[in-house]
Amino acid sequence: VTKIGVLTSGGDAPGMNAAIRAVARTGIYYGLEVYGIMRGYSGMIDDDIFHMSTRSVANIIQRGGTILKTARSKEFREYEGRQKAYENLKKRGIDGLVVIGGDGSFRGAQKFSTEFDIPCIGLPGTIDKDIAGTDFTIGFDTAVNTAVEAIDKIRDTADAHDRLFVVEVMGRDAGYIALHSGLATGAECVLIPETRTNIEDLIQQLTEKEKRKKLVNLVVVAEGDELGGGNEVGRILKERLPNMDIRVSILGHIQRGGSPTCLDRILSSRMGYHAVESLMTGRHNVMVGIIDDKMHYVPLDTAVKEKQSFTSDWLKIIKILAS
Ligand code: F6P
Repeated sequence: VTKIGVLTSGGDAPGMNAAIRAVARTGIYYGLEVYGIMRGYSGMIDDDIFHMSTRSVANIIQRGGTILKTARSKEFREYEGRQKAYENLKKRGIDGLVVIGGDGSFRGAQKFSTEFDIPCIGLPGTIDKDIAGTDFTIGFDTAVNTAVEAIDKIRDTADAHDRLFVVEVMGRDAGYIALHSGLATGAECVLIPETRTNIEDLIQQLTEKEKRKKLVNLVVVAEGDELGGGNEVGRILKERLPNMDIRVSILGHIQRGGSPTCLDRILSSRMGYHAVESLMTGRHNVMVGIIDDKMHYVPLDTAVKEKQSFTSDWLKIIKILAS
């Protein structure tokens, strides 16, 4: 490759800027021309593409969001959209692409690079950690730390009022943010989409603790839980446990913002470097993942098809530690 493009697509995640910086600076270091593509695949279709210098990525390693902005492009799902995008790359001679995003973005990249002759390298950028072939995704650690900080604050007021809080965290169809933040904040229970939710068990657990006057402050619910998230769980618990003072708190998009943690900055920087190296050594249509601190190259279709393996004993640990 001689000229590469970089874009961010799908939901933003803290650390995306650090990844963009790493791609741009590594590419330029090795003598490649690097182009920034605005708003994900939309910018590729609308020809919103600019030449990057090392200065274009100055002072961004610590910033949340993405300087390239992001979008979920409907047009790119159609062949005509992808063809338009290809022509815009072609006229500049861009012959390699780094896509920083989640599973939807990888599906797009996979399709695009099989139809047209542009090798694509994916970097897993999502707070949800719902991508197979990597221990971490860019933004997950920051999102979890933000959730933990927020839940600690909720615990203060919960404790002061002897209240039970049902806190909903993000994660789409995955429960990793809930599992990690719940274990780290000493939640009574964590409800996640990966396992069946037995609300009767939870009600029994809470009733038993109420009897022995053990104060229970916190239930963490993943938004994708089968019962329908925090509001629904809160509604059921209020109805079934009328003696308890229960509140619901939905953390929402604060989990997507903020300055990336050290772990996310390092992850993004290493992955960005290896994305460029991958393009230079002729890899194509793979995602750069990290397993046991080593880089792994996973075919894009495997990364989106397979689920992350799930650490099932965490729920048991959470229950025992809350007893
Ligand atoms: O994929 C990241 C994520 O924040 C999910 O956790 C959440 O379900 C979704 O994006 C929210 O999307 P939007 O910002 O489009 O409402």
